[in-house]
Formats: sequence, structure tokens, C-alpha cells
Amino acid sequence: MFVLLFGPPGSGKGTQASALAERLAIPHVATGDIFRKHLREGTALGKLARSYMDRGQLVPDLVTCDLVASRLGEADAAGGVLFDGFPRSVPQLYWLLGHLGATGRGLAHVVNLQVNEELILARITGRRTCTNCGATFHVDSAPPDSSGNCRRCGSPVVQRKDDTEAVVQDRLVAYAAQTFPCLEQLTERVPVHNVDGVGSIDSVRERIFAALAL
Ligand code: AP5
Ligand code: MG
Ligand code: ZN
Repeated sequence: MFVLLFGPPGSGKGTQASALAERLAIPHVATGDIFRKHLREGTALGKLARSYMDRGQLVPDLVTCDLVASRLGEADAAGGVLFDGFPRSVPQLYWLLGHLGATGRGLAHVVNLQVNEELILARITGRRTCTNCGATFHVDSAPPDSSGNCRRCGSPVVQRKDDTEAVVQDRLVAYAAQTFPCLEQLTERVPVHNVDGVGSIDSVRERIFAALAL
């Protein structure tokens, strides 16, 4: 089953993805997380991606689709994946539909997380990310451990370079111009479940599960 977790920056895609992927028994594929892994490892792809990510712009479609094609070629992805942050432009969406369609597969559901801009800013500027495993926290709603480290692996947490208020504004512009238009295209093809992303992490998760009848 191929499912999309859609929504603006800071809407809670990464936060909700693990529980949902586990319930659906499919891997979580987040292009932003994969780019950040390359960045940490200092690969050529990481260096290229950084130049776009630090400015809040999208990494070029060809590069991103190549990355997803190779991830989808891995054995665990054969039965489906939960996409988070992909597709993020209309060309990426058409590429994905073509790629899956070529082997008789398709998208089963889209979960569209809806939050207002004020909350997006508060969530993103308060987010802290583990330097080792990539787990995310929030200074108010989901803080790191008592020594300020990752609750999952104990490593230091930092603020993502693109989580400053100035870069968030650019990410929101990119979302409105390039990503949001995918929704209209998706609505014509796939069941799109609009889910209110405002509220506690648990209550949003319950709404997502209810929307998908899980
Ligand atoms: P990416 O990493 O995908 O970032 P994004 O889409 O901007 O989304 P975020 O990860 O910022 O937000 P989220 O929805 O996951 O929120 P989260 O759950 O963490 O992309 C980064 C960059 O990579 C892009 O700008 C681009 O350059 C590049 N890129 C990635 N994919 C690409 C693609 N397909 N094509 C081209 N370029 C691409 O939550 C945010 C915070 O809020 C956390 O601190 C969390 O703890 C807190 N929180 C979440 N839910 C709640 C709640 N219910 N209550 C209280 N706090 C909450
Ligand atoms: Mg995320
Ligand atoms: Zn960690």
C-alpha cells in the first residue's frame, strides 16, 4: 500500500509518520530525512541538497526522483511505503504516478495535515533534531531528556539550519507555489483525507487512524 502524508512544513508529518507506518506495516520514506543523512555523511548528494535546503528551496526534481527510485528499489519497499515530504511538486507527482503505474501499482490514500501558519512557526522554531538518529523534539511540547539530549539514543540535539524564522518563510512560499498545487491533482485521482493537525500529538494520531479506518 502506497500512502502519502501531505502537509506544510511543521504540520507534524515526521511526528505522525512512525506510528502510522508501523500500523500499516510499511516503511516510512521521508526525502528530507534521506537528504539530511547524506548531509551528515558529507556525500556529494548531501552537499548539493544542502545548498537548496539551507535556503528553503526544493532540491531539483530529477535529483529527488532518482533518490526515491533507488529507495523504492529496495526489498522492504516492494509492498508499499508511507511517503513523507514527497512528492513536493507537480512534476514529482506525475513521476511517481508513472513509476508506480508502470508496475500496476498506485497510491491508496493521501492524508493531508492541516495547520495554521502561526502554529507552523511555533512548531518549527521550537523543534530540535538529534544529530545522530534524526529524532525530533520540541522545546515545549515534546522536550529532549533532562540533560537536553535525544530520548532515543542520548546524542546531542540541535536546531535544524532551515528552522529559523527567515528560512521557514521561504519554505512556506515554496510550499504554496510548488507543493500545494499537487493536492488538486491528487484529489482527482486518490482519496484525500483532510485531517485537522491542531491538538496533541496523540489526538492528531487518533484522527489520522480514524480517517483511514485503522
Ligand atoms: P522536510 O524535512 O521534508 O521538511 P518539511 O516538509 O518542511 O517539513 P518538516 O519536517 O519541517 O515538518 P513536519 O511536517 O515533518 O513536522 P514535524 O513532525 O517535525 O524537507 C526539508 C527540505 O529538504 C526542504 O525544504 C527541501 O529543501 C528538501 N526536500 C525534502 N523533500 C524534498 C522533495 N520531495 N523535493 C525537493 N526537495 C525536498 O513537527 C514539527 C515540530 O512540531 C516538532 O518539533 C514536533 O515535535 C512538533 N509537533 C508536531 N506535532 C505536534 C503536535 N500535535 N502538538 C505539539 N507539537 C507538535
Ligand atoms: Mg519532517
Ligand atoms: Zn537520537
